[in-house]
Parts: sequence; structure tokens; C-alpha cells
Amino acid sequence: MATGTLIPGRDRRVLEHSFVPRGTIRQVMTDRSPEILVAGPAGTGKSRGILEKLYLVAMKYPGCKILILRLTAVSLSATGLQTWENFVVKEAMAIGAVTFFGGSKREPAAYRFANGSRVVVGGMDNPMKIMSSEYDLIYVQEANELDVEHWEACTSRLRNGVVPYQQLIGDCNPQEPTHWLKERCDRGATKYYHSTHEENPLYFDEIRTLGDGGVELVEYKVTEAGAAYIAKLDALTGVRYQRLRLGNWVAAEGVVYEQWSPTLIVDRFEVPADWPRFWVIDFGFVNPMVVQHWAEAPDGELYMYREFYRTGRTPDEFARMVLEAVAEVPSDYVQDARELAKGEPVPPSAWEWKEPRPRSVIADHDAAGRKTWTKITGLVTTAAKKDVLDGIAEVQVRLRDRRMLFMRDVLAHPVDQSLRDVKKPAQTVEEFPGYVWDTGAGGKIKEEPVKENDHGADCTRYLAMARSARFRPGFRSLSCARRLGRSSCSP
Ligand SMILES: Nc1ncnc2c1ncn2[C@@H]1O[C@H](COP(=O)(O)OP(=O)(O)OP(=O)(O)O)[C@@H](O)[C@H]1O
Ligand SMILES: [Mg+2]
Repeated sequence: MATGTLIPGRDRRVLEHSFVPRGTIRQVMTDRSPEILVAGPAGTGKSRGILEKLYLVAMKYPGCKILILRLTAVSLSATGLQTWENFVVKEAMAIGAVTFFGGSKREPAAYRFANGSRVVVGGMDNPMKIMSSEYDLIYVQEANELDVEHWEACTSRLRNGVVPYQQLIGDCNPQEPTHWLKERCDRGATKYYHSTHEENPLYFDEIRTLGDGGVELVEYKVTEAGAAYIAKLDALTGVRYQRLRLGNWVAAEGVVYEQWSPTLIVDRFEVPADWPRFWVIDFGFVNPMVVQHWAEAPDGELYMYREFYRTGRTPDEFARMVLEAVAEVPSDYVQDARELAKGEPVPPSAWEWKEPRPRSVIADHDAAGRKTWTKITGLVTTAAKKDVLDGIAEVQVRLRDRRMLFMRDVLAHPVDQSLRDVKKPAQTVEEFPGYVWDTGAGGKIKEEPVKENDHGADCTRYLAMARSARFRPGFRSLSCARRLGRSSCSP
């Protein structure tokens, strides 16, 4: 769609870039409304389409300033900027018509166009650098993650005046119907677009034919890549299926943790050395294996400060990955030749720890997994108390009282792309909104949650049980779990 001469001066190389917008994105391309939201199921081309618009604008209006924003800079690099670099500015970067500037103390990271345009990138987790500037367009990826205050702060930054219109564009998958973004669209403050799977040429071919009387007929035929992608979405269940496959704005019914709120995710801080640490393990291989690292503040608040959440790792590989994050083998260490020949791992005693060891490691009841874990790390595990309803009640109370908090961006390894691809949670905090009570035949709610996408949630349950005064030896428990399990009689 965009072809042109780019490099000013003597260099007249022609830059070719091709993109065919379809449906919603075709309309968004030319829409000049001050605020736009593009919502729709997963993989419908929302982000790619908006990024292509930004690219066109940056080319068309020399010297303009655009911001690409997400809640955190880390999440933006992992998603939106991949699409931007691999598909949108790929050719321009290849010939130097667009260069990346990694940022400095004063200036944020940005893509610099040869015509003087700038596309600044950043996260709301570091607003000082990006929000002190003025822009022509701002694109907020996964806008649902932001608060309405963030969104409004963005509108106040739109006054650069180089592009003839100023615009705030967001995209997201549908959320609960009471979400502030949906309400904003419903009352007309933000223009709403809804994308569909057929709009993405990667997944659907558009076949135009002439019918009776010369009427043009349009049919969509799923491509091979599309069939594979849609099959993944079809395998989702519950609220994820509704939102990511069908694109419906629906609430999760019977959410177990109604006390959950994204405000329980807090900025990272250095954990004081004297706070006791607790680690929790939920074993898995096809399903993700999860290891959470928690620290307990002097008043009993628990903070998750590190997390491992991965599929496809054997317990010994996983244990080693965790150990490598907290300890190292001295460079002059030489392993016993006989042990090495037998393929034995470096013994736990050889590792030098960089941070305090956990006071306890709580693990689910996988005997083989626990044995392997101890062999690699030298850390003995305690069997988790697994009473589901008691554990849920403990977590509910802690979430309600803000006594169980989650530091932002604490995944200790690159995100598990196989989980992202099938739109499954890839870290604990992503599990909570979709963790629901099981509804048996006839829609009757059972006394247990649906056992899927619950691996991190299980860990939090084990930890809350382990740190609960009610379950420590010598304390007589008055179990009220069954009462606490429902919102109407939440404590
Ligand atoms: N018009 C198009 N032409 C070619 N490829 C496209 C087009 N639109 C989207 N794609 C490709 O389809 C894939 C999914 O698109 P994209 O990531 O933009 O979807 P999305 O709607 O933002 O998904 P999500 O809801 O998961 O954020 C990407 O690889 C993208 O490059
Ligand atoms: Mg997207």
C-alpha cells in the first residue's frame, strides 16, 4: 500500500512496503476521530493494522511525533514492537530510512524516520520520560490494561499539531461489559470498531465473485495458518472462549477471586535481606510448571517477587533454571570426574547463593518431582496443604485485605510463547480473572473451581495455607471456608 522515495537529498532509493487493510482496519486507516478503540477477538489484525496506520502517518507528515504505549515497556517489547519491526518498518529499517534509538537518561526510546518523524515507545510504568512530550497520535496497545486516568492523561498530550488531526487509538480484546473502555465507547466519548477473524488476510482468503445481476459476492475461505489458529482458539473454554474466539464483552461467571484487582500488582522493589522467603511449586510438563518466590514483610504481607511459569521443561531442567536465577557455580569449580561421567548434576553444595535461601519450599504432591527438585537444588520441600476450599478462603481474605501482592513483571525468563499462542495465561496474575467455579450439569455451581489455568492460583493457595495462623500447629481452626467460598458471605 505504501511505496515512495524516502531518503531526502541525493539518495533516491525507492522503498517498497506492502500491506492490504481489510474491513475494520480499512476504515480505521482514514478515520480522524479524536479517540478510537478497536476491539475484537484474538488475531484479527488489530495491532498490525494500527501500526501500519502509524507508519503511513509518520511517512506522510514529516516531523510528526507518535507514541506507542503499553502498560509496561517490557510487555510492549515482547509483543507490539515485534510486529512493528518484523512487518511494518522492516524494509525501512533495512535501508536506514528508519533507525532505532535506544533512549538516554533524558530521552525515551524511539524510531527515528529520515523525514524527521519520531515514533516514541514506552510503558506507563515509566511515565516521566514519555508523558512530558506532546504527540500527534498515541496508540495504546491492550488499552484495557490501563486505568481511565492513564487514558485521559494521554488525551492531554495530544497537541503536537504537525498532523492535521490528533488521535488516541487503543486496541484490546473484549473484557467484562462494565469495563471503563466499553462504557466510554457506549456513551460516545470513544469511537468503537469491532474486528472479526475474516478481516485478517493471514487467516482468511477473500474471494470476490459476480453473482446474478452483476452483484458482487464476497466469501471468506480459511487459510492453512488460519485453520490452525482458529483450532487453538476453539480449544479455549469459558470466558476466554467467549472473548478471544467470539469477541463478546462478557463477565466471567462465578469468579472464584472476586477480590482480585489489577491494583494488587505493585511496582517492583528490592526485597530487604531480612524478610523471610517462601517458594511454592506446582509441577507440570504439558501443563505449565510454576515456581513462585515470595517474601513476607514484618507485618505479614506477602509479596511475589519472582516467578517461573513454563511448559515443556522436565523437573530437573526446571529446578536448574530456578537455581541459576539465585545462585552460581564458581568459575574455578571442578566437578568430580566420576560424577561427571555418570551425567550427575553439579552438587547443590557447589552453588554459591546470591540471595537468602527460602525458609521453606512448599510443593504439590508429586513424589518424583519433589525428589528431583531436592537432588538438584538441595532444598527439601514441604507437602502443600491441599484442602481446596480452605485454601481459597485464605487467599480471598488476603486479596481483600491487600495482604497478598504481586510485583510487576517478575517473570524470570522470556514468556512461554506456546502459552501466548493459545491465549492461555503465561503468568499467575493472568489466571485470576478467568478462575471460576465449576458449573456441573444443569448449570449448578459445584463446590470446586474449574481445574484449568489454575497452576499459579494453586501455588498462591498452598502459600496462603502455609502462612495462615489458622493452620499452624497448636491453633484451633474454626473453618469457615465453605461460607467464604461465595461472594455473598465473603468475610
Ligand atoms: N492485513 C494483514 N496482512 C497480513 N498480515 C496480517 C494482516 N493483519 C494481521 N496480520 C498478521 O496476523 C497476525 C495477527 O495480527 P495482530 O497481532 O495484529 O492481531 P490482534 O488482533 O492484534 O491480536 P490480539 O488480539 O492477540 O492482540 C500477525 O502476524 C499480523 O502480522
Ligand atoms: Mg494485538
